[in-house]
Order: sequence, then structure tokens, then C-alpha cells
Amino acid sequence: MDIFCRGVKPFPPPALAEVCFWLRIMRDHAQFIELGLPCEEGNLKIEAQGFLGVFDDLEDRLGRASCEEEINRLVMVATVAVGRFFVFNRHILHLLIDCRLCGSCLYPLFVDHLSREALYCRKLLKKFTGCGMEFPVDAMVSENIFWVRGIGDHLKFVRDLIDPSERALVGRAKILGGKFDCLSLQARDLGSMLWHYRPNNELVRFEKDLRVAVSEAVEYFTATESLVTCCTAVSTIPPLLAEHIRREGEHCLVVLEMIRRCLLQDDAAEDEDEDADEDD
Ligand SMILES: [Fe+2]
Ligand SMILES: [Fe+2]
Repeated sequence: MDIFCRGVKPFPPPALAEVCFWLRIMRDHAQFIELGLPCEEGNLKIEAQGFLGVFDDLEDRLGRASCEEEINRLVMVATVAVGRFFVFNRHILHLLIDCRLCGSCLYPLFVDHLSREALYCRKLLKKFTGCGMEFPVDAMVSENIFWVRGIGDHLKFVRDLIDPSERALVGRAKILGGKFDCLSLQARDLGSMLWHYRPNNELVRFEKDLRVAVSEAVEYFTATESLVTCCTAVSTIPPLLAEHIRREGEHCLVVLEMIRRCLLQDDAAEDEDEDADEDD
């Protein structure tokens, strides 16, 4: 199920490192929006700058927080801020799709993507005070759907920002993008088949395929970032965006590793149950 579905929550446990990672991501998003808005949209630019300052400050304070009470208080403040940022993202998106932001450098799909990540971040922060999903498999398949779509988007954004003369780089992004479109459909199929059930062998195989595909995409993003920052490829990709996309890809691999370990534990638990049955 999609991150927009009410009951869907992120798979990773609520941890300070996760929160700091996502606050940095939110900060970058505020900067992308601010840079992409037309010059005459001064008020929206100021609002975006305001969010950038809030996330910067929260990340800094969380990094220095020394007791649980302070961390929980800051997480509550961050939850409200990210919720407001999500609404801001959707407002910008609606202006874009109604053609009321002429001259903007923001794609509607790009802003939709940012809003999905804001919602994911808000749900992750809410896990600090709430619980996870009732069926562990639901959290796994939803996480796959979120990341596969996200990385597929990244490949499309990068492809469209590289100069068309960079044929090899554009071609590689197209091939990888096609692979992720296919994985996205498969992730959705598995999501509905396994919903409220339990992991099966197909999910284990899919997770393996996904880790391989994401590793390939991360390799591509790392190479692109290096080409962009060294100015050895012509593109309109801001270096911060190239770095941001690479960081998110690497984070996806961390989450997929958590899912892999959880599936291994499930397997071990099942084997133990079978051994116990045989002993009886
Ligand atoms: Fe992002
Ligand atoms: Fe992203």
C-alpha cells in the first residue's frame, strides 16, 4: 500500500539517526523549493526559507540533545513542523498543476515526490509516540513500494537534468528507470498479495532483486554526483541534488538490510517451530 494510505507506517524503528537523516532531507527539500520558485514568488520563497531554518535548527538541537525527555520533546516539535511542510509541499504542487506558478523550475512530479517523503518522515516521527503496523509483512511491502517508486523518480529526474549530449549517462538512466518501473509494479502486486498475511519465498527473492537494483542505482548516482561536482559532465543538476539523491539511495540500502535481517529472523523462528513440532 502507498504511503498515503492511512494505516501505512515506515518499517524502520524510531531511532535518532533515522530522525536526523530525515530532518536533513527535509532541509534540502526546502532549499530545492526555494531555488525552484520563480523570483516574483517572494512570499513562498520566504516560507521555504523559514522551513529550511526550522529543520536546520531541529537537526542541530537533536544532535546535541542529551536526555530522552528532550529528544521526545524535539521529536514532537519536528512532527508538527514536518506536518506543516507537507501541507506547504501540497500547496506548491496544486499551484503547479493549476499552472499558477509560471516560470518555476519545479516539476509537479518532483514536488509530489517531496511531499511523499515529508509524509513518510512525519509517520516515522509519529512512531516515537505510537506503535508499528500490526502485520510486519505489511510494513515490509509498503516500504518496498515507497522506495522503489522514489528511486524510480530519482532516475527520471537525473535523466531529464543531464544534458542530452551526455548520451551514455542519459541512456543508463533510462535503462535503470525502466527496471524500477517494472519493480514498482511487482512491489505493488506483492503488496496486495501478502497484505495481512506473512512473508513468503517470493518476497525473499524480490528483496534480493531489489537490493541488487538499488545498489546499481546507487552506483549510478555516485558516479553522476562525482561527474557533476568535478564538472566532467554537462548537466543542470545542482550538486546538492546529486548528493541528496545519492544519500537517499544509500539510506534505502540500509532499510532493505533491516528488512533482510527481519526476514532471516522470521525464517529462523519458523525452523525452530518446526523442530519443536518434530520433537513433540
Ligand atoms: Fe528527497
Ligand atoms: Fe527522493
